[in-house]
Amino acid sequence: MLFDLFRKKKKLSPERPVPTHIAIVMDGNGRWAKKRGLPRQAGHKVGAEAFRTIANYAKSIGLKYLTVYAFSTENWKRPEEEVNAIMELFCKSVINESPELQKQGVRVQVMGDRAGFSEKVLSYIERIESETAAGERLTLILAFNYSSRSELMAA
Ligand code: FPP
Repeated sequence: MLFDLFRKKKKLSPERPVPTHIAIVMDGNGRWAKKRGLPRQAGHKVGAEAFRTIANYAKSIGLKYLTVYAFSTENWKRPEEEVNAIMELFCKSVINESPELQKQGVRVQVMGDRAGFSEKVLSYIERIESETAAGERLTLILAFNYSSRSELMAA
């Protein structure tokens, strides 16, 4: 699906090998919800489900690395209620998805500045990384609290 669309857009032949790494910016969750008269949080929930579908597809076509830019440092400026809902969604996703990710050989790594997270969210970040550390089929990189400025400063 994703790669088929990419092939079509770039006019690549169907025989062209699968790239090693694809990165996606998660965007439009809020607009998706607004269009349907739903709260923004509902858009994030569906966004997380869409990410699950994409990750499954990525694994099935033999992609080795899939990065999703999920939460930037700018996103902390959103209403507290929305930020809390996103953090809660992340923690719930860890609980719900970890067993299947382990079964499917998917390793999850979280990149970004960990300084801003609550103890609870940090524990879920560490949990998903350690529970899936043995995965060798696909590495899912979740960019959480990222910004080009902070990456340059850290470098
Ligand atoms: C971008 O859409 C999305 C976000 C800022 C948050 C996405 C985070 C999650 C769904 C949390 C859990 C993630 C995973 C992968 C388990 P937007 O709100 O900027 O939408 P808009 O552009 O329409 O305003």
